[in-house]
Amino acid sequence: MLIQRTVVSAGFLLILSAGLCIAKPIENEMNQKIDDLLSQMTLEEKVGQLHQIGGSFATGPDFKNDANREALVRNGWIGSFLNIVDLGYMRELQRLAVEESRMKIPLMFALDVVHGYKTIFPVPLAQAASWDPDLIEKAERVAATEAAASGIHWTFAPMVDIARDPRWGRVMEGSGEDPCLGSRIAEARVRGFQGEDLSAENTILACAKHFAAYGAAEGGRDYNTVDLSELVLREVYLPPFQAVVDAGVASVMNSFNVVFRMPASANALLMNQILKGEWNFQGFVISDWNSYGEMIAHGVAADKYDVACLAMNAGSDVDMQGYVYIDALIPAVKDGKVAEERLNDAVRRFMKMKFKLGLFDDPYGYINPERMKNTLMIKPFQETALKLAHESIVLLKNENHLLPVQKKIGSIAVIGQLADSREFRDMLGNWCAMGDMNDVVTILQGVKKKVSRHTKILYAKGCEAFGQCPDSLIQEAVIAAEESDVVLLALGENGFMSGEATSRAYIGLPGDQIKLAKAVHATGKPIVLLLMTGRPLTIPWCHENIPAIVNIWQAGTMGGQAAADVVFGDVNPSGKLPVTFPLTIGQVPLYYNALNTGRPVGPDGNPHFRSAYIDCPNDPLYPFGFGLSYTAFEYSDLILSSVKIGMNDVLTVRVNVRNTGKRDGIEVVQLYIRDLVGSVSRPLKELKGFERVPLKAGESRQVEFHLTSDALAFWSRSMTFEAEPGDFKVFVGGSSADVLEENFTLE
Ligand code: BGC
Repeated sequence: MLIQRTVVSAGFLLILSAGLCIAKPIENEMNQKIDDLLSQMTLEEKVGQLHQIGGSFATGPDFKNDANREALVRNGWIGSFLNIVDLGYMRELQRLAVEESRMKIPLMFALDVVHGYKTIFPVPLAQAASWDPDLIEKAERVAATEAAASGIHWTFAPMVDIARDPRWGRVMEGSGEDPCLGSRIAEARVRGFQGEDLSAENTILACAKHFAAYGAAEGGRDYNTVDLSELVLREVYLPPFQAVVDAGVASVMNSFNVVFRMPASANALLMNQILKGEWNFQGFVISDWNSYGEMIAHGVAADKYDVACLAMNAGSDVDMQGYVYIDALIPAVKDGKVAEERLNDAVRRFMKMKFKLGLFDDPYGYINPERMKNTLMIKPFQETALKLAHESIVLLKNENHLLPVQKKIGSIAVIGQLADSREFRDMLGNWCAMGDMNDVVTILQGVKKKVSRHTKILYAKGCEAFGQCPDSLIQEAVIAAEESDVVLLALGENGFMSGEATSRAYIGLPGDQIKLAKAVHATGKPIVLLLMTGRPLTIPWCHENIPAIVNIWQAGTMGGQAAADVVFGDVNPSGKLPVTFPLTIGQVPLYYNALNTGRPVGPDGNPHFRSAYIDCPNDPLYPFGFGLSYTAFEYSDLILSSVKIGMNDVLTVRVNVRNTGKRDGIEVVQLYIRDLVGSVSRPLKELKGFERVPLKAGESRQVEFHLTSDALAFWSRSMTFEAEPGDFKVFVGGSSADVLEENFTLE
């Protein structure tokens, strides 16, 4: 960790630090066994270990529903499957592998367990709004426990791509725009999935994806070209990957894009040099869905033979759905184009994880219907999902304290198809594994459970799915609003509108939901907008006209209950945005840790000859780190332990935070720095630490951060990661745009 956070209050000292690492079985014995196996394996069997194909469903294009699976397993020509979830079938395939194949090497089963297996948590971006890595770790352990009880050994998560462009649908799968927050959450996810012992019942292999810079796709269009400098690659996109490698992540997935004009799957700089070299990654690298095959379309290879050579020699180990290694790697090895030792290395890395999972001891250990039945969706898991949904919710606006709504209110209109939907993954969000819409608590259900017996609830759909709002439905919604004391209006994206292959060129409310919003607004009733989304949306009209806005994201199985807990005040919202919400699409990409430029806009806001728009301000609608509470927090007395520190010193930053309201609350205190003069231009602000601080009404606490020169280091002009002496600013506050500041010098 770059920063150690301490919260100090009368007699209370809490030092938080990270403990990590996957299990260390008896390495020598394991290596010996793998070498024994390798010495007996044919070339075909070695390549077979690196071949992965899909099972029951597709998560990519051109899915060959291979009828030949059993024969492949018997012949030892397959090492793992993805997307098989039928326990009986898994058992049969495993039996074929360990009883009928020559080498008897067990199979691995993989699935995208991205935000829960059966108990679904808020989408990852929403989870990041909790700024609570410990709770996220706990959630991933729940996900791992459910998945491991259902035959799954390996998840394709965490997705740790930094994303600065909300047009890109996969923003929803990551932790937002910031490398520091993203890294802390990424490590927590890996600890949650993998624990300390991979052979335990409640752990599975993690896979950090997509390596690398996938989030930088031009125009926010999925799979598109990426063009960036090595400095930006290392400073912005790589830190979460490095953090998970340090945390012992078992596998890493290639991304689809090019980096320096070379597809990531064939990128020796990324894999051989950085991942396996500089970072000493001991796990294995898997392609994304046919990302090896796609190198032909990228125009860097003519055929599978070329691709196999490029991928292997650059450090890619396992082929998902590409049929490249199985079809072309053997001749490449025979021709000496790929060294057999490189092939052995890939197989060794992969089989090592099978050992760590305990599969060689008990290949059926994860296939246990009884355990599965007793594990899925148990109460404590649902409670964790509810807690994380609470912490993920971000209060964006609350004029005149419209929220919380009294439970005894006379009548309430709940409006919006999304408020009571069991279709299109509406509350679950994309990549929801085995999540079932029938298990979801909808907003309407949550409201019904919450209000008094005397409260009249009027529900109107207002729209059809995908935000299509015919006049007849709008009319019904208007009538419901007119008959109510307050309106809860649920608008936003359904679960298929963000995630993979869901780039959007317009990121307002989908369909004509804005028409519905305007019609309901015209009734003059007080409205609470419950925003459901997997990405930042541009909602300037809503911000100007609707008095209360709560971003509940796509909050998972317990989403509707969590929303009702917040709306009626049983939970005081504490979430903070992990990503900037632009005012309009024309500002994109817009992120808080930008450079200053040579012509920044001055305090007068005049855009003339400035880096500005003539028709729109530079400021976002809601900045990174922003989120309100039902109480208020006041920051004061920002004090540094010294105005000068040396390279080996620790700077202590103290700030007083007071809950000035009448309710208990939790404030996410954020620390940023700015390096005023660097050998290369430095961002205006960079997050370096954060802490969730619970404060009772009227209570104050001194929050303490410890900053070392490591936290001030960056990729300098000589492409060295180093801290440079000079003047810095330090900022502390409850949002990137609302901070106290002080200065210090690094000598
Ligand atoms: C996605 C990956 C995913 C894989 C397997 C691909 O299309 O890009 O994130 O893990 O499919 O489902």
